[in-house]
Amino acid sequence: MYSAALKQIESKIDTINEEFKILHKYNPIEHVSSRIKSKESINKKLKKKGLEPNFENLIKTINDVAGLRIICSFIPDIYTIVEMIENMQDITVLKKKDYVSKPKESGYSSYHLIVSMPVSLSVGTIDVKVEIQIRTMAMDFWASLEHKINYKYEKDIPKSIKKELKECAKMTQKLDKKMSSLGRNLMEDEKELVKEITAEYSTVYTGLMLSENVSL
Ligand code: GTP
Ligand code: MG
Repeated sequence: MYSAALKQIESKIDTINEEFKILHKYNPIEHVSSRIKSKESINKKLKKKGLEPNFENLIKTINDVAGLRIICSFIPDIYTIVEMIENMQDITVLKKKDYVSKPKESGYSSYHLIVSMPVSLSVGTIDVKVEIQIRTMAMDFWASLEHKINYKYEKDIPKSIKKELKECAKMTQKLDKKMSSLGRNLMEDEKELVKEITAEYSTVYTGLMLSENVSL
């Protein structure tokens, strides 16, 4: 069920990506990756919560069994993608965490969404949760390396290293802001283009979306 949910949402993101490639000169998505949490990590997480490792506890308490990561170019792209996901039919946003405008104490920044979507199985249709992390390449660079360093110290990371990682996060944020301001022109041109395309095709789209106009 989790891999089916990931396939569904990946396909939706892929559609947006392809649409951007065809309609626009600018594509906000750099790449997408997904993973299913291992049985060991699930059990570890349940144990940490003081819960029995069973299916009911997993469904009810673990939100990140299915995880999707969307890496984009500039900071505003993150919010564009969040809005697109929020507008997707079939997708319900259960939780939003904006660590982009307010990074975590560690320095970590990313936008997190916990969404749910219906997955049809032979036994019926069930709602499945997926954690989506949306971040820029710079945020991803920091998070991946910080994760590796943290892993090496098995969470018992020296204070001095923690401080330096936070410094690195600040440098990353500065770089991201600078690059985003350089990319502003690109995005503004894009906004104009989107306006033109929308105006040109809106009548056609509206016509197509009215089911009574579709002849079978
Ligand atoms: P879990 O950490 O998954 O139990 O969830 P939570 O409720 O604490 O949610 P949160 O949104 O804070 O973090 C979820 C995920 O974000 C983690 O599993 C990591 O993938 C990522 N993350 C959060 N904080 C950090 C951090 O300080 N460093 C790195 N590298 N990743 C982080
Ligand atoms: Mg997690």
